[in-house]
Amino acid sequence: MKKNFIPLFIALFLFSCSNESSRINRLQSRIDSLEQKVNDSYKPGFGEFMSAIQVHHAKLWFAGINENWALADFEIHEIMENVDAIRKYETDRSESKSIPMIEPALDTVNAAIQKKNIAQFKNSFVLLTNTCNTCHKDVNYSFNDVKIPDSPPFSNQVFKK
Ligand code: HEC
Repeated sequence: MKKNFIPLFIALFLFSCSNESSRINRLQSRIDSLEQKVNDSYKPGFGEFMSAIQVHHAKLWFAGINENWALADFEIHEIMENVDAIRKYETDRSESKSIPMIEPALDTVNAAIQKKNIAQFKNSFVLLTNTCNTCHKDVNYSFNDVKIPDSPPFSNQVFKK
């Protein structure tokens, strides 16, 4: 009587094994398709972050020299956010190792803004701009030569307070 159950157990065992392996196959193909989606998702390039930083750098200058401290505070934080984004998203670029050098200069400008001190703002902005170029030299992009802007970058935004 008991003997008759043995083939049944074997059949059940084999059935559950094949079920398990097809479940694993299904999971693997879901993982593969999710991996593909992650690889294909849009990620801004280093140059795009830098172009954004360039705009905020210029706006920051005109906000600061016009003693528009609320706008200057906004602009310095926009630069800081882009720097953080480079640290987060550009890990595959060797140049990202040099990005922390900008942080003390950003902090100095930020301190001047919080103190609403225009002389300190101007001095620290020179330091900031020099540091941008120091990094560009270090990573062989010295042809991207940044300077203090002569005129406001946009005519459709008010920089004066
Ligand atoms: C890692 C050090 C580093 C620092 C600090 C840095 N940059 Fe850059 N910057 C780069 C690199 C690398 C590129 C080239 C990016 C690329 O591959 O397109 C670049 C490119 C640029 C460009 C050219 C963008 C374009 O596509 O036309 C500008 C403008 C620029 N940076 C402005 C700045 C300003 C302003 C600062 C300072 C507030 C700054 N950068 C600080 C590394 C740096």
